[in-house]
Amino acid sequence: MKKQSLIIDCDPGVDDALGLFLAFGSPGLDLLAVTTVGGNVPGVITARNARIMRQLAGREDVPVFAGADRPLVREPVGAGEFHGEGGIGDMIPFEPRLGNAEGSAAQAIVDLVMARPAGSVALAVMGPMTNLALAMRLEPKLAAHLGPVSVMGGARSEGGNITASAEFNIYADPDAAAEVFASGCEMVVFGLDATHQVRATEARIAAIEALDGESARAAGGLLRFSQRVEREIVGWDAGPLHDPCTVAWLLKPALFELKPCRIAVETVSDLTRGHTAVEFRVDAATARHRWAVTADGQGVFDRITESLERLP
Ligand code: RIB
Ligand code: CA
Repeated sequence: MKKQSLIIDCDPGVDDALGLFLAFGSPGLDLLAVTTVGGNVPGVITARNARIMRQLAGREDVPVFAGADRPLVREPVGAGEFHGEGGIGDMIPFEPRLGNAEGSAAQAIVDLVMARPAGSVALAVMGPMTNLALAMRLEPKLAAHLGPVSVMGGARSEGGNITASAEFNIYADPDAAAEVFASGCEMVVFGLDATHQVRATEARIAAIEALDGESARAAGGLLRFSQRVEREIVGWDAGPLHDPCTVAWLLKPALFELKPCRIAVETVSDLTRGHTAVEFRVDAATARHRWAVTADGQGVFDRITESLERLP
C-alpha cells in the first residue's frame, strides 16, 4: 500500500495531542516530521508537548522542529483555559529524552516538501498558520509544490469560539491565515461547522480508557480533562475534538462531506478579526479550497481508537 507522506504542524494542546496519536498509530501515513507553533500555549511548551506524545507513542523516529513562538504581526493569544497551563490538561509534564531537531519549522517544511515530487507531501495544520506562512515566504514555489493542506480552522454556520465571529486558530494569526488562503495551495478546511459534529462522548472516552498502553492512558486523561473544562466553561457535556479531523480525512475522506469554496480572512476589523468568509459560489472545477460541512464523529473516534490500540 502506498503511504501518504505527511507533515503535522500543531500547537499541543489537548486535541492536537489526540491528532498526533492518530497519526503516530496509522501505518498508512509516512509521517516525515512534526512542526510546532505557539498557540494554545507558548511555543517552547508546544514543542515539549509534541515530544512528550512522540515518546509515549514510541515514535522517536519522527523529528520535531520547533517553529514560530508568536504570530506574524499580532500579540500572542493563548487558550490555556481549555488545555491547561502546561497545554496537556492535568498530565504531569516531563522533559522528553529527545530534544527538538535542528533548524526551524518553516525551513523543515520547505526542505521536506521541495525534496519530494510535487503534490506528494500533505500538511495537516492544527494551530495558527504562522509556520506555513513563513515557509511560503521562504520558498515562493512551496504553495504549488505542496500536496493537500488539511487545516483545522475557521467557522461559518457555527459562529466563533474565541469571539462571536472567529475560531481560535485563525483569530490567533489572521495575517498568516490570509496569506495561506491567498497562496493558491490546495486546502481542505475543517472549521467548527464540521468539528462540532465530532464530540468526545462518554462512550467514546470510555472506549479509549478501556485500552492498554501509555498512549491510550494519556489520551483518556486528556479527554477527561477536556470533558471537565468544557462542562465548566461552556456547559457542554461532550466537547468537540477539532484537530484529529485533519488527519482522519487523509485516512478516510468518506468521513466528511466537503464543498468547493473560496475562503478569505478578515484582517482589518478588530470586531471581526479572523472571521473566515466561506464563499460557496465558485467554479467547482477550479476552486482551490474545500470546506467540511459534515463529519462522521463516530468514524473519527473509531480511527483514533484503532491507532491507540497499535501504540505502546
Ligand atoms: O478552535 C480550535 C482550535 O484551537 C484547535 O486547534 C485547538 O487546539 C485550538 O488550537
Ligand atoms: Ca490546535
